[in-house]
Amino acid sequence: MANAVRAKQLLGREAAAALPEDSVLGIGSGSTVAAFIDALGERIREKPFSCLAVAASESSARLAEGAGLRVVPLETVATIDFAVDGADAVDVHGTLIKGGGAALVRERLIIAVAQQSLILVDDSKPMTTFENVTIPLAVIPFGWSNTRSRLQREAAAVTLRLAGESPKLTDDGLYILDAQFDVIEDAGALHRRLKLIDGVVDTGLFVGYRPVVWVSDGQRVWTMEEAARID
Ligand code: 5RP
Repeated sequence: MANAVRAKQLLGREAAAALPEDSVLGIGSGSTVAAFIDALGERIREKPFSCLAVAASESSARLAEGAGLRVVPLETVATIDFAVDGADAVDVHGTLIKGGGAALVRERLIIAVAQQSLILVDDSKPMTTFENVTIPLAVIPFGWSNTRSRLQREAAAVTLRLAGESPKLTDDGLYILDAQFDVIEDAGALHRRLKLIDGVVDTGLFVGYRPVVWVSDGQRVWTMEEAARID
């Protein structure tokens, strides 16, 4: 089994074991989150307890329901105790790049209201600085090529994400433009600039949420150094 796969399984198991009962859970999207949901399902089957969850994607919602969680819409809960999610990259400030699975809009809405966020990443994801990175952007389909032209003034290259021959659609009916950057010096400033571009709904840059980040190489799990993460 490849290291990354082992790492995701280990992270999923440890996160599922650490979760307090009776918490309202936010669930992100992606393969690491799928491993977490599987492990949580196992824990619930061994010793049943009720767990309310908000899911960032239809696929996570289906997995969560299959695992025995009660999935509810975000607008029906007053707060989320823990959000558990993955990331495509994380820097020393705890800034995340997300959206590899096209669920960035809902993932942000969950992390934004969560009391605590736990981000699970294999050891290929931490970066000292964001260099040669792709930032996924959720955009309105109407006039998307004009939005891409506007984005090309900021990024090295901008590509429409496809699913087969058609544009990839998010669960909210948006397109994804993948924007490449040689180097990102100020992720917060870039996020704000990109969000102001007409047609852009959200970016994959998650700045200032101060998540707890767990990293694994498939053998063990460690927490990314808190002291280094000063925004
Ligand atoms: C989905 C995401 C995922 O968390 C991110 O792409 C990481 O995915 P994986 O756990 O499969 O490596 O942001 O929008």
